[in-house]
Amino acid sequence: MTRKLPGKAERYFTTGISMITSHGPNGSNVMAAEWVMQISYNPILIAIFIHKGSQTLKNIEKTKEFGVNVASEKQTSQVSVAGGYSGSEIDKLQIKNLFNTVKSKKIRAPSISGCTINAECILVKKEKTGDHVMLVGKAIHIQHDESQSPLIYHRNRYFQIGHAIEPQREEIPVDRETFEFFTNLAQKRFVLKCIGVTVKSKNKILVVKQPNSFMQTIPLCIPPSGKNHTRYLEKFLKKMKLDFELCQEPIMKRFVLKYEKNSQRINMIQYNGKTKSDKEHLWKPVNSDPILSIL
Ligand SMILES: Cc1cc2nc3c(=O)[nH]c(=O)nc-3n(C[C@H](O)[C@H](O)[C@H](O)COP(=O)(O)O)c2cc1C
Repeated sequence: MTRKLPGKAERYFTTGISMITSHGPNGSNVMAAEWVMQISYNPILIAIFIHKGSQTLKNIEKTKEFGVNVASEKQTSQVSVAGGYSGSEIDKLQIKNLFNTVKSKKIRAPSISGCTINAECILVKKEKTGDHVMLVGKAIHIQHDESQSPLIYHRNRYFQIGHAIEPQREEIPVDRETFEFFTNLAQKRFVLKCIGVTVKSKNKILVVKQPNSFMQTIPLCIPPSGKNHTRYLEKFLKKMKLDFELCQEPIMKRFVLKYEKNSQRINMIQYNGKTKSDKEHLWKPVNSDPILSIL
């Protein structure tokens, strides 16, 4: 079957490429597939989308197993052959000096060396989706090779992975006590997710004293995941007897606290607030505190 040239829009998706291995009545086979995706962690499930005319589909329907071998950037020749010819036309795996296969641990289809990931799957679901068939495999054995870099596919061309994009987080050097206060709040989580309210008056910001600590911070709380943030913050403020009106649109502040070689990321959803009462509050000059100065 010949692949139709994509129209304009679908040409802009970006994927990796896998080599799907299978075993059938005529021996083992390999095809190239860009439509491959992990869809569950536990169990590890991988969905592949295969056209009906392929030898691979026939093999998998018979044996109920397949290998997903995620191509590395050095494997463009193998991918081109796996995707350019059908196993019904030629025994691709027998072409000299092309595929380096090894015996799989749990399935009959071979694994391909030099890939970034090799997953051995058993078929758990098959469903027709448009002009392709979705096959979901449960990985019963999986391994990866950190030394290999994945091949990228975009607009019918192969690419290498580029530079990592530096996260746009402001870095704030803090003292040990401040660092410890926030890392304790984070309870060993990589990113501390919190919501806070800033109430400003000229260059001062309203703060509260944190219990059992010297720290003064804006009123902030850590909502359990899944809870509505605004309502949780409102309840928290009520409990603290802080009579604020919250402005409707929160903003996201992402920063990273640095102490010596240690860092703690913070994602803060920040509301602006207005005090409703003229109750005495604790105000702190914004520029006297590195964290408050960025809020
Ligand atoms: C880069 C690339 C990506 C491809 N991705 C898919 C895909 O996701 N699904 C699919 O059915 N065919 C895909 N193909 C086409 C098949 O690999 C091709 O039809 C192959 O000849 C089928 O081999 P078989 O008949 O031996 O199974 C792709 C081809 C290339 C070159």
